Amino acid sequence: MKRIFVTMAAVLLGAGAVFAQQDIVNQRQTEMKNNAKNLGGVLVAMVKGEKPYDQAAVDAALGVLVANAKVLSTQFPDSTKGLRSGDKYSASPKIWENRADFESHLASFAKVVNEAKASVKDLDTLKATVPLIGKQCANCHETYRLKDG
Ligand code: HEC
Repeated sequence: MKRIFVTMAAVLLGAGAVFAQQDIVNQRQTEMKNNAKNLGGVLVAMVKGEKPYDQAAVDAALGVLVANAKVLSTQFPDSTKGLRSGDKYSASPKIWENRADFESHLASFAKVVNEAKASVKDLDTLKATVPLIGKQCANCHETYRLKDG
C-alpha cells in the first residue's frame, strides 16, 4: 500500500512538472501577444495617425516591451523544448540548438526597446523608431518561430 502511494505521488509530481513547463509556454505566448498589442495597437497606430500622439501611452507601451525583453530571457528553459500549446505559432527547436544566437537576438531586442524608451519624445522620433523595433521582432521570428496553423 505504502509503495503504491509513493508511486502515485511520483506520477503526480511528474504531471505537475509538465503543467509547470506548459505554464511557461503559455506565459511567453501571452508576453508575445502583449508585444504585438503594444507595438501594433499603440505605437504603430499613432504612427499611422489612427490614434493621437500621447507620451504617457508611448512610455507605457515601451515599458511593456522593455519588461518583456527582460523576462523572455528566462522563459525558454531546456525543459520547454518541443512543447506546443496548440496555438498558431510555436517555438522552433533551433532556439535550443543555437542558444547563443537566440540570446543575442533577445539582447538586441532589449537594447533597441531600452533606447526607444529613452529617446522617443514626439511623433517624429516615434516614426523613426517603430520600424527599428519591428525589425527586431521580424528578425527573431524568421529563424526562431514556427507557424503551426
Ligand atoms: C528573440 C526572439 C523574439 C523576439 C525579439 C520577438 N519574438 Fe515574438 N516570438 C518568438 C518566439 C520563439 C515565439 C513562439 C513562442 C512559443 O510559441 O512558445 C514568438 C511568438 C510571437 C507571437 C505569437 C504568440 C501566440 O502564441 O499567439 C506574436 C504575436 C509575437 N511573437 C509578437 C512579437 C512582437 C510584436 C515582437 C516585437 C515587439 C516580438 N514578438 C519579438 C520570438 C521572438
